[in-house]
Amino acid sequence: MAYSIKNVLDGFSVDENILNEFLIANKIAIGKNGKLSEQSYHLISDYLKNKLEASNQQNNRTKESLSFEINPGQIPAYQSSDNRVVLYQDDAIHFLKSLPDESIDLIITDPAYSGMNQKLKLGSGKIIGKYSDAGKSGAKWFEEFHDTVDNYRTFLIECLRVLKNNRHLYLMFDSYSLLTLAPVVREIFDVKNVICWDKANIGLGHYFRRRHEFILFASKGKRPLNSKNIPDVWKIKRLVSAKYPTQKPTEIFELMLMGSAESGFVVCDPFFGSGSSIIAALKSHCSFIGSDISDKAVVFSKDRVEHYLKTKKDIAQKQSLLSDDEAISKLFLK
Ligand SMILES: C[S@@+](CC[C@H](N)C(=O)[O-])C[C@H]1O[C@@H](n2cnc3c(N)ncnc32)[C@H](O)[C@@H]1O
Repeated sequence: MAYSIKNVLDGFSVDENILNEFLIANKIAIGKNGKLSEQSYHLISDYLKNKLEASNQQNNRTKESLSFEINPGQIPAYQSSDNRVVLYQDDAIHFLKSLPDESIDLIITDPAYSGMNQKLKLGSGKIIGKYSDAGKSGAKWFEEFHDTVDNYRTFLIECLRVLKNNRHLYLMFDSYSLLTLAPVVREIFDVKNVICWDKANIGLGHYFRRRHEFILFASKGKRPLNSKNIPDVWKIKRLVSAKYPTQKPTEIFELMLMGSAESGFVVCDPFFGSGSSIIAALKSHCSFIGSDISDKAVVFSKDRVEHYLKTKKDIAQKQSLLSDDEAISKLFLK
């Protein structure tokens, strides 16, 4: 029997990111033509067998507990054949208003704030298209959600209404929007943490170059975190040359789910964009319902989800974006 990485991979449908992390953590060397020692081969096979078994058990539990009976009274733009993912092309507030009270277990979202962009107008055309073309047909820059305090309050009141009691909410912010909108979140939710996403590499910025975004973690009622080992700074690399502008690493959403989801939870993102939150929800054995106003987002996410459901591979993020942070990397090895 040839002990090679190819033989291990042939036996399992495996997420390559998970495998790579395992190889690095266990200092497993791969020889010429993918050769492995007998010991390494068995170590990897056993690890993957256990992962597969755990995943099958989780999937069965998810199927049993899935009570996805939410009917917002409009036809979805996409519904997966197993009914685990339902997507609407809609305005976030309109979409949330169509959901029943207390129908959602977890909200994880990254809204399209207008504040900082309108002030800085950083989309000068090179990377994300002309800012002034936002929302026009063929424009790269996406439509924005007008984050006036009143509009944002309406959005949050809807989030509170649709969320079940004793559940969590995660809201992503750039620093500009956080300054104006965090007080509104505190009016409506019980804010527990301000998490910092450290993107490891610098990005655009007229003064200090931006390397971070914030995530407000809040609750409706009382609910502990699933783990006490998650730090409040998440060092995860940004995506370079993402096909969808503002596509976030799935690891950001995976961390939110590690903190707050149970298998079978109904996860909601009313601004799903490229679908990173959807992939994270599927990896955590949850179901997903969400909206985005853009037809591009719907088409992109639908393709990404269909591919993931068939192959367990993510076509929009082929590599792990974990950075050199031991505390965070450890969480992904479990
Ligand atoms: C920051 S992006 C989300 C990126 C996403 N988290 C990802 O990883 O790809 C914000 C999204 O909000 C969408 N959007 C803008 N205005 C909206 C609105 N009023 N309702 C719903 N979606 C909206 C945009 O089309 C964009 O896809």
